[in-house]
Amino acid sequence: SQLEKGGYPHFMLKEIFEQPHTLSDCMRGRVNVEGNNITLAGFIDNREKFLNARRIIITACGTSWHAAQIGMYAIEEYARIPVEVEYSSEFRYRKPVIHKDDIVIAISQSGETADTLAAVELAKNAGAFIFGICNVVGSSIPRNTHSGCYTHVGPEIGVASTKAFTAQVAVLTMLAILIGKEKRTVSREEYLNLIRELNLIPEKVAEILKKSGQIEQYAKTFTYAGNCIYLGRGYNFPVALEGALKLKEISYIHAEGYPAAEMKHGPIALVSHEMPVIVIATQSDTYEKVTSNIQEIKARKGRIISVVTEGDQVVRGLSDFSVEVPETLPCLTPLLSVIPLQLLAYHIAVVKGCDVDQPRNLAKSVTVE
Ligand code: G6P
Repeated sequence: SQLEKGGYPHFMLKEIFEQPHTLSDCMRGRVNVEGNNITLAGFIDNREKFLNARRIIITACGTSWHAAQIGMYAIEEYARIPVEVEYSSEFRYRKPVIHKDDIVIAISQSGETADTLAAVELAKNAGAFIFGICNVVGSSIPRNTHSGCYTHVGPEIGVASTKAFTAQVAVLTMLAILIGKEKRTVSREEYLNLIRELNLIPEKVAEILKKSGQIEQYAKTFTYAGNCIYLGRGYNFPVALEGALKLKEISYIHAEGYPAAEMKHGPIALVSHEMPVIVIATQSDTYEKVTSNIQEIKARKGRIISVVTEGDQVVRGLSDFSVEVPETLPCLTPLLSVIPLQLLAYHIAVVKGCDVDQPRNLAKSVTVE
């Protein structure tokens, strides 16, 4: 088993470090810089369905649901189709309205999650077109959908999902851009720029991974925490949710993800010197606003760990610890900003002596309700 871990102490760390390769594998033959295009077979074969869709509903559980949230932001921004994101367990029982010209996208690493499979069946019976985004080839969900796209990241063994998440986000982003290009809601110039930037993502992820040692050092000061808050806005709000979930899953520290601006409607009451606040504050239209949230936390003596864009001065200066990520387009930041959060959760769990690959009470895939 040490051999299978390729020299890493845990599968989770191996899988985090595989991401430059898994993202390349996921985009290979799909994002083509020389040919200046994006192709997804599952889209091409069903082009009309996508172009005529009234609405897209994305259904998933756990980490896959967080990828779905990012997909919603990207599809609405680039493809201009209204999107709803549903927890499969709620969707399947709440008698949802589903139209024949709706597209239902089911996201599942394992392709076996019982609730997501049931959501697929429900939507199929209602006449919708079902598109799967799965990792395990030939699993139940891809066998029950009309079309789809595999993430191609290889087996994911660690219970806490990492490389499957980034690939799900990459697929959703490619899909959003491709629909947008076909609908002409994305200009030629934007399209070419998105392709160029997507292609740079794997090497940027590799840059961030070099900071693992630095994050490990910082993780040691963290073991005292009983609670943490993760804040982000826009494309980084779902990343905050995912960062909090990673920490909960493997370190058993209670953590909550929140949209940064909502902090003042509740979580700020919890801030004290005992509670670390992890803020994703990369460059964006809302950078200044996130900065003022950080100042409010500082005024209440909260500890701040930030994820910032390379060269950042202001947020860095306000933080107890910060990790830089390379600059990219807003829609692609989740692929970078989630990496330090995966590493942070991992190192904290290791310092606490937790069983990282097999956290208590959790299963890799939930095949029963
Ligand atoms: C379990 C796993 C999570 C995963 C979720 C959904 O809870 O522990 O890591 O995100 O199921 O799994 P799926 O295979 O459908 O993506």
